[in-house]
Amino acid sequence: MTRFIAVVLALFSSSTVLSQSLSVKSTDSRYLLKVEVTPAGVLQYSLSFLGKQVVQPSALGFDLEKPKTKLNRFKLESVDSSYISQNWAPIWGEYSVIKNEFKELVLHLKQTSGASILVAVRFRLFNDGLGFRYEFPSQTNLSHFVVKEENTQIVVGKNHTAFWIPGDYDTNEYLYNTTKLSEVHAFAAAKKEKDIAVTSLVSDQTVQTPLLLKSADGLYISIHEAALRNYPAWLLNLNKANFSFQSTLVPDAVGNKAYLQTPANTPWRTILVSNKATEILASTTILNLNEPTAFENTSFIKPQKFAGMWWEMHVGKANWPLAGGKHGANTENVKKYIDFAAAHKLDGVLVEGWNQGWEDWFGNWKENVFDFVSPYPDYDIQYLTKYAQSKGVRLIMHHETSGAVTNYERRMDTAYRFMNLNGINTVKTGYVGKIIPRGEHHDGQWMVNHYERVASKAGSYGIMVDAHESVHPTGLHRTFPNWMANEAARGTEFNNAPTLGITPEHTTIIPFTRLMGGPMDFTPGMFHMKLNQFDPSRKTVIRTTLAKQLAFYITIYSPLQMVSDLPENYEGKMDAFQFIEDVPVDWADTKILAAEPGDYLAIARKDKKSEDWYLGAVTDENKRALALSLNFLSPGKKYEAIIYADADNADFEKNPEAYKISKQMVQSTDQLSFQLARSGGVAVRFRLMD
Ligand code: NOJ
Ligand code: CA
Repeated sequence: MTRFIAVVLALFSSSTVLSQSLSVKSTDSRYLLKVEVTPAGVLQYSLSFLGKQVVQPSALGFDLEKPKTKLNRFKLESVDSSYISQNWAPIWGEYSVIKNEFKELVLHLKQTSGASILVAVRFRLFNDGLGFRYEFPSQTNLSHFVVKEENTQIVVGKNHTAFWIPGDYDTNEYLYNTTKLSEVHAFAAAKKEKDIAVTSLVSDQTVQTPLLLKSADGLYISIHEAALRNYPAWLLNLNKANFSFQSTLVPDAVGNKAYLQTPANTPWRTILVSNKATEILASTTILNLNEPTAFENTSFIKPQKFAGMWWEMHVGKANWPLAGGKHGANTENVKKYIDFAAAHKLDGVLVEGWNQGWEDWFGNWKENVFDFVSPYPDYDIQYLTKYAQSKGVRLIMHHETSGAVTNYERRMDTAYRFMNLNGINTVKTGYVGKIIPRGEHHDGQWMVNHYERVASKAGSYGIMVDAHESVHPTGLHRTFPNWMANEAARGTEFNNAPTLGITPEHTTIIPFTRLMGGPMDFTPGMFHMKLNQFDPSRKTVIRTTLAKQLAFYITIYSPLQMVSDLPENYEGKMDAFQFIEDVPVDWADTKILAAEPGDYLAIARKDKKSEDWYLGAVTDENKRALALSLNFLSPGKKYEAIIYADADNADFEKNPEAYKISKQMVQSTDQLSFQLARSGGVAVRFRLMD
């Protein structure tokens, strides 16, 4: 760590008070951060990018409940500054090496009215984003304390276009809205949604993060948080009078926000800015703000593709409970999936509905519905484990808690030991419904701590985690590399929801919003788009082309990718399925080739285990021509491009399953032109020829 001297400390002296202001430029000089303690003692910061003001002076502070006091009038006691530049290697991900380069400014402050409490605010300015957090050092006037509210302001000051979902304490499974800030109406947006189990809306003007804004003069602004630990998730209250946001934290069951003990810190508040949409997608600020992993053993952590009879249940072919005669998780059926996985080099098979309790799991809000160790009698777990092993496949266990999280906490050790005994090293957790017994919220401090306990305990048992209905991810997969993926947004299963479903543009927005925090178990790979196969009354359809489903394996990154459709729906289309079989889930490098939120994106990624590159591009409800330079390929080398494209007559409404496959030799100096159908896509494998 070296000190840097770019900080300008200006002292404006009036007769008795001093206004103190500091400023820092990012190493590449594009970002300028200013921090000031005004003569009245208000702490505020502002941010510019390429000379344009992105955040106007915005105040920082807290309301505490116990001790009942405000932290809003500060005296600047001292300042620390430093510069860090280092590289680190994630265990898996989109890059094999990540540069962590930032300038840091720490303001040590003392509250001047009421209780004299010490607070520090730490700013880190990267070349691709800003992060800052509050720190409460050990001190005599503050040990245990209760937070009433965090008052972080972000005054953007202009009526930007926003890509947003309603502020909700319990769910993030909304469809994204694209409106001017002046048109944000969370209640009206949420009212259209009838397919979400539990909602707790906050106010008509409250939105969730990751939030993406686009200014009229072409700046993209992404607002989120990093390293959310022992603290509630934040939401943003919009004030339309001046287009400012004010943080509001998810409360606990009795209305308090956070219970902390010094030394403590908040998560990082992140603001990423660029004049290029592609740069937002490439930012590593959020990962860099998370702590390196403390895991000594990471050898059990393996990115994987998996199949499972999950879609059978959602589409009405099978069901979770034994009662009713449609039990999907029976030995014979699971065997079929193991055979399918083995035949196509998939690593895992997810089994939902394997355990007793599903007769009575939903809507009753009871504890002890599941014990996570009692298989249904028609599910021979020992036999299937051995059978899977003999085929080089592993079972993936499902732990639906049905919101009874204390029940799960009591049973976690036993459940993970049971997994170890059965050679199962991945768990998909789920939190459908209200969190009982105390009525905590999915995104409150108590649940945030629960998700982390699951990740760390599962880690100690050598288990990987894929959490559904969890809080928005904040880059914690750096610290807990076995916490591979989360759902935490609207994924494939919503195609089956009778009302809004998944719109063609949804998947052109989530990379800019939900995915900024980390990988998503979106469950791509749908080949059969009409969902009335087992229930002729169903009107639901998947609103993409088949080629777009292939492209998702590139555009929606996850180290756990499901191969989600029914094996019989892949039959007859095995030439297209070849892409799913070939596509890796762990990458050495990633290049964002083209992107516009809500419209399209194109990404190229290099395999970690070979010299091959893969490309995926998707479009919204409009068809689109994309001409992409192949300059990411190694110069002078020849590649065979295997192109999985929309057929000429493909269209998500009229002809979604039509595709064409072609091959051609290419090199880095070439350009490829693609025609994407309405809600279409393209997927390409570039195979290095030796
Ligand atoms: C919702 C999850 O997102 C889905 O994947 C799962 O199948 C059901 N809950 C049942 O747990
Ligand atoms: Ca659009």
